[in-house]
Amino acid sequence: MLNHYLNQIVPGDCLTLFKQISDNSIDVTFADPPFNLKKKYHRTKDSLEVQDYLNWCEAWITEMVRVTKPTGSILLHNIPKWLTYYTAVLNQRAHFKHWIAWDAPSSPMGKTLQPSHYGILFYAKEGKQQKFYEVRYPHKRCRKCHYLQKDYGGKKAGLHPFGPLVSDVWTDIHRVKHNKYRDEHPCQLPLHLLERVILMTTDEGDIVLDPFTGTGTTALAAKRLGRNFIGFELDEQYVQIAEKKLTQEEPNSKLGNLWVSWFLNEIVTIRDQDWEVLQQYYLIPDDLKKIDRVPIVPKDGKRKVYTPRTDMETKDMFSVFCQSV
Ligand SMILES: C[S@@+](CC[C@H](N)C(=O)[O-])C[C@H]1O[C@@H](n2cnc3c(N)ncnc32)[C@H](O)[C@@H]1O
Repeated sequence: MLNHYLNQIVPGDCLTLFKQISDNSIDVTFADPPFNLKKKYHRTKDSLEVQDYLNWCEAWITEMVRVTKPTGSILLHNIPKWLTYYTAVLNQRAHFKHWIAWDAPSSPMGKTLQPSHYGILFYAKEGKQQKFYEVRYPHKRCRKCHYLQKDYGGKKAGLHPFGPLVSDVWTDIHRVKHNKYRDEHPCQLPLHLLERVILMTTDEGDIVLDPFTGTGTTALAAKRLGRNFIGFELDEQYVQIAEKKLTQEEPNSKLGNLWVSWFLNEIVTIRDQDWEVLQQYYLIPDDLKKIDRVPIVPKDGKRKVYTPRTDMETKDMFSVFCQSV
């Protein structure tokens, strides 16, 4: 059945579809479920009683762990409130690695601290066997003067020319804010968030499964990085948007022969181990102390321009679809 689902967005309820997936067969499972915050999805309701929501979450989290390989990773994205319950379920079944704080401000709630991060729980199915690669992101610089934003004091000469290792606080990836980059979906994740997760946890050809695919972000990231994917999604409208976007994407997110993550015209994530080869594509100052004011630039002066699809065709297709149902 796995081959039947490979590189497909399968319409249906994830709990039913999980039954078709064998134990220990998937390299990475990533879930971004409905947050039970009364979001306006096209079809599904997002307002269960708390205990019903938690029971439902426990059922699919258990399935995620079951299908993940012993070398694999399990990642769950949600607001901190629900993640505190998820840890109780996951700690009994898998091995805690990180709570990644993804810095992404949301609306003020009133009478509370301003919520300013989403969490991504990162678990290994089996502690020591986990496949994991350290990743780097570009140094943050002043847009006008290009100086490093962080003061490294006397340690400048020891800086990595590309940028720091990614920590468990992600501040460099923003939510999809502009309508021209958004699908008709209330909570689409940014593609390069998923690309970072995939570069960190998988190799080319590995399988990534997302039980709540929405309009296909995880599948798209996997395809662009030469990985296989399986997506489940209850809402056929979202399935069709995802499928349409997938036909327009190629597995070509590379610099030379190495997989990297691009956003617009910048590389936003590389694997640490790939720098030895990737550095040949950059002009790097001889004196590394200058790295604080001289950004490294691609040697050919050209940068690939990756434009997320506005996909008006898809939207038009759905105005027809919606009129016909
Ligand atoms: C938070 S959104 C995921 C968004 C996705 N990460 C993206 O970037 O497009 C959750 C999705 O889960 C879907 N969903 C809700 N219940 C489901 C179920 N039982 N099985 C499969 N999908 C479901 C909803 O239709 C919605 O698209």
